[in-house]
Amino acid sequence: MSIGEKQKVFIYEVAPRDGLQNEPKFVETKDKVVLLNMLSESGFKKIETTSFTSPRAIPALGDADELMQSIKRNPKVTYSALVPNLRGLQRAVSANVEEANFVLSCSETHNRVNLRMSREDSLAQLKDVVEVGRENQININTSLSTAFGCPMEGEVRLSEVIGVVERLTSLGVDSITLCDTTGMAYPDQVSKTCSQLKKLYPSVSFTLHLHNTRGLALANALAALNVGINQFDSSLGGLGGCPYAPGASGNVCTEDLVHMLELMGYDTGIDLTHLLKVASYMEKLVGRKLPSYVLKAGPRSTIHPVPHSV
Ligand code: COA
Ligand code: ZN
Repeated sequence: MSIGEKQKVFIYEVAPRDGLQNEPKFVETKDKVVLLNMLSESGFKKIETTSFTSPRAIPALGDADELMQSIKRNPKVTYSALVPNLRGLQRAVSANVEEANFVLSCSETHNRVNLRMSREDSLAQLKDVVEVGRENQININTSLSTAFGCPMEGEVRLSEVIGVVERLTSLGVDSITLCDTTGMAYPDQVSKTCSQLKKLYPSVSFTLHLHNTRGLALANALAALNVGINQFDSSLGGLGGCPYAPGASGNVCTEDLVHMLELMGYDTGIDLTHLLKVASYMEKLVGRKLPSYVLKAGPRSTIHPVPHSV
């Protein structure tokens, strides 16, 4: 990095997948297309567009194949999609997805509830997914759910997380997202987990996926930044949550994260003014106000008129 150049932080938008997957009202495909085309012009390097899951498990994203064919692709953006099994990867390949995000959990219980299979079965699926991904020149990222705690098992020990990461790397996975599925992480834990994993697996590219269930997401993002993590998933408006994780709620909010990081002098590459327009559109799509501070208050630079009474 040359003098005066800002440090880059990469923010991956997950609202079209994590955000919409749990919405009770189906958002029409044509409206998702508008949303994705707006997001594609916001400066993101990667957007998690949808998931190729069973439409019975995730009806809100049952239009994945059609959606991928309908969006306008920006060559600067990697369009990623979540897959739970080989069948999902095959659909993703047919839909020309550039990266498949394979999901499995650190905790056996969440794996069984979310994916209806054991963690070993998921790892067996992943082996095939890596192979077919390689044949089709498609990147495979792996998202590790419940890496900071499981809402049904409680504490997930760091040794357990390291054990799963070891298995992933032995299958050839070199891109891993650590997911705090139900906002159980806290800053000291994030520092310890991330620094330990980075030290043990220096060639793995780690991303952090935070939920703000207990109000700690931005604090956790700072803790991760301080130990050298520079890739984060986040969701427009703070929408999100896994339908198969009891007590799950929204992701760290993209506009709040971008706002904080840019104020601190990091370069996210994201156009906050444009992003706020997209977040307002998202509120229209889901028909309610979203838990975004910056959307509500405006950026710090907002100047208010002096009240009449003064
Ligand atoms: N895409 C579409 N359909 C799929 C599929 C996929 N990737 N994988 C399986 N199916 C279909 C099967 O064809 C079968 O359909 P049928 O009943 O019409 O014959 C049905 O789903 C059940 O298949 P089965 O292999 O028995 O799966 P399951 O019921 O045990 O469910 C998963 C396993 C993984 C497919 C399902 O739990 C799932 O999609 N989970 C996703 C959870 C998720 O996305 N959570 C939020 C993100 S963390
Ligand atoms: Zn999530």
